[in-house]
Amino acid sequence: MDFQFNEEQRMAIEGARRFSQEKLAPAAAEFDEKAEVNLKGLKELGRLGYLGMTVPEDYGGSAMGAVAYAGSMVEVSKADAGVAVGMSVQNSLVNDAILHFGTEAQKTEFLPKLSSGEWIGCFSLTEAGAGSDPASMRTTAARDGQSFVLNGTKNFTTNGGIADVIIVFTRGGPDGRNNSTFLVKKETPGFSVGKHEHKMGIRSSSTTELVFQDCRVPASALLGEEGKGLKIALTTLDGGRIGIAAQAVGIAEAALDESVRYAKERIQFGKPIAELEGVQFMLADMATEVELAKTMLFRVAWMKESGHKRFTKEAAMLKLFASEMSHRVCHKAVQVHGGYGYMKEYKVERLYRDQRITEIYEGTSEIQRYVIARTLLGA
Ligand code: CAA
Repeated sequence: MDFQFNEEQRMAIEGARRFSQEKLAPAAAEFDEKAEVNLKGLKELGRLGYLGMTVPEDYGGSAMGAVAYAGSMVEVSKADAGVAVGMSVQNSLVNDAILHFGTEAQKTEFLPKLSSGEWIGCFSLTEAGAGSDPASMRTTAARDGQSFVLNGTKNFTTNGGIADVIIVFTRGGPDGRNNSTFLVKKETPGFSVGKHEHKMGIRSSSTTELVFQDCRVPASALLGEEGKGLKIALTTLDGGRIGIAAQAVGIAEAALDESVRYAKERIQFGKPIAELEGVQFMLADMATEVELAKTMLFRVAWMKESGHKRFTKEAAMLKLFASEMSHRVCHKAVQVHGGYGYMKEYKVERLYRDQRITEIYEGTSEIQRYVIARTLLGA
């Protein structure tokens, strides 16, 4: 990779690669098969500093920055994309939201525990009837003196079943347009974890419903300004989309690596299939697309790291391109493997399934196109 990392970034990414290949990769197929969260692996990433990469050291983070985070996400995703999404949510949706919108007391209380992996966090926006259109959410927060009472059901929440802290988005006020965000601890009465989803891919991650039933939280649990909840969600998702793009790049790169290795080993017509032009062209296209997405990834991560005020369009373009690129690359990887690529014994079967969600969560490809178009058109 030719991107000019500084020494700290290089070491961070190298450390993520070593840990992922040694500890996560050997267990990934089994966690996928059992649909079980690799919580030990995720928490270990915290102990190594990979769950608080954009959090300043004053708040217990490793402050490695968004570029090192993007590179590390690629490495973790190459080994286990389920663990990687847990890492992405923790860094770019949970920590970043608290860092940018939290009070000093919230930062001091939550960030050190989240950065070290002692606590896992989740970002609960989606509902059964509010996916691409979170503004239509129905979970309510009603003010009652010095507290708020939350009611409603969220779904498809990544890390839902393992979360100690929940960032939850609600609506309130007389016309229901007053969106607000809260930090809820899992032991709060009235909060419970609902249905655990059985998924096509990223099966080593937790995706659940979260239920709030007369769940009373103090006014100090409000994250950011009352009435600005949706804005907090959408601002935070700009950074989140970098993490998901990195996940897509990692999955694609793993699919490419597997394909190159297989093409050199697999003998047909008396020679390795790597000598067939049809296979070479697929590998060449795969490598070119991965490289392009990776270049874009580090550019947008750099924009975030260097304090660009807004990178909404760039993050949407990146997530759109990287996730659809990953789809094309994983498709070709299965093709290069032929019938074996369809079998669970081969890693590309899992990569093909894991890739699919990157085109859906944190905004579908259609939402990314909408975000890009409205920026272009000045809407
Ligand atoms: N940065 C800062 N502010 C932003 C913003 C951004 N990127 N995007 C919008 N805003 C602001 C707007 O200016 C507006 O502010 P005001 O109220 O002050 O005017 C406010 O936020 C609301 O914005 P919109 O009116 O544009 O909102 P909208 O209802 O038209 O929705 C949308 C726009 C782009 C379609 C948005 O709803 C969207 O991104 N949808 C996709 C939802 C999504 O990504 N969900 C992911 C769930 S989380 C997840 O998937 C995590 C996981 O599991 C891994």
